[in-house]
Amino acid sequence: MSDTPRSVFPHRHLLGIAGLSAPDLTALLDLAEAQVEVSRQVEKKKSTLRGRTQINLFFEPSTRTQSSFEIAGKRLGADVMNMSVASSSVKKGETLIDTAATLNAMRPDLIIVRHHAAGAVHLLAQKVDCSVVNAGDGAHEHPTQALLDALTIRRNKGGIAGLTVAICGDIVHSRVARSNMLLLATLGARVRLVAPSTLLPPGIEALGFETFTDMRRGLEGADIVMMLRLQRERMNGSFVPSTKEYFRFYGLDQEKLGYAKPDAFVMHPGPMNRGVEISSEVADGAQSLIREQVEMGVAVRMAVLEALASHLPNR
Ligand code: NCD
Repeated sequence: MSDTPRSVFPHRHLLGIAGLSAPDLTALLDLAEAQVEVSRQVEKKKSTLRGRTQINLFFEPSTRTQSSFEIAGKRLGADVMNMSVASSSVKKGETLIDTAATLNAMRPDLIIVRHHAAGAVHLLAQKVDCSVVNAGDGAHEHPTQALLDALTIRRNKGGIAGLTVAICGDIVHSRVARSNMLLLATLGARVRLVAPSTLLPPGIEALGFETFTDMRRGLEGADIVMMLRLQRERMNGSFVPSTKEYFRFYGLDQEKLGYAKPDAFVMHPGPMNRGVEISSEVADGAQSLIREQVEMGVAVRMAVLEALASHLPNR
């Protein structure tokens, strides 16, 4: 007997938010809602993934995403193996395809992948027999981050449709921004992008996103202010004059937050650069949902793993 849930999510992999429908997204969020309760109990262990092998394959350093996927897999009863690039043959010159073939031969059921190149996770998914989850590929997508953000918003605002969400900061280098823009637009939110022009993707207005280079105007009337980390490791060349100057114009402090609605919430995917894109006062303040985002991360990842497991062969 298996307690694998009936499939509510008609996809074998989760490679991005692109291509998912509003019902797909809502199904995952509803599933995640139930997992929040599981994680708040003393007994947190389910058996949905009992007997299954989950490999976390991380080519980029990660603390919260990797541990979140690890905890999620373990709470569902899977055997979880962490493989990071520092300890792998990739350092010895093995290609992504060879790594995929090697891991595939070990017959895992789920592979969670983070890679510095956009598209690498899609490529890997074509080379293995199991389900693949994108845990961030370059500046492309980070679907579970967008889902956990949506779950956090939904629980605090009662819904997503009709909300004004201001995504602020280093948008051009951010997979979090891209996945969130797709998800929030699909679920009916109004998405604004607030950044210096050097950090806005060219031509983005044509896709229906309002852009602002003046942060105070961009925050005016916002229900959610989503801050992004300045991705200095992805910048070659000078995108911002100095971090001090950046904070003055685009750092979220109490004064700028005052332009958003009085009941607005502040979010950040982490890791935060305090004093660069956000002040400590705001990050730790009453309007901050940053810690709740981390809790929702585990719930969302449990939901995703469970949804994908419903497609795994049972014998
Ligand atoms: C994000 C990432 O890695 O894309 N962080 C995360 O997943 N917690 C955002 C970032 O690195 O700024």
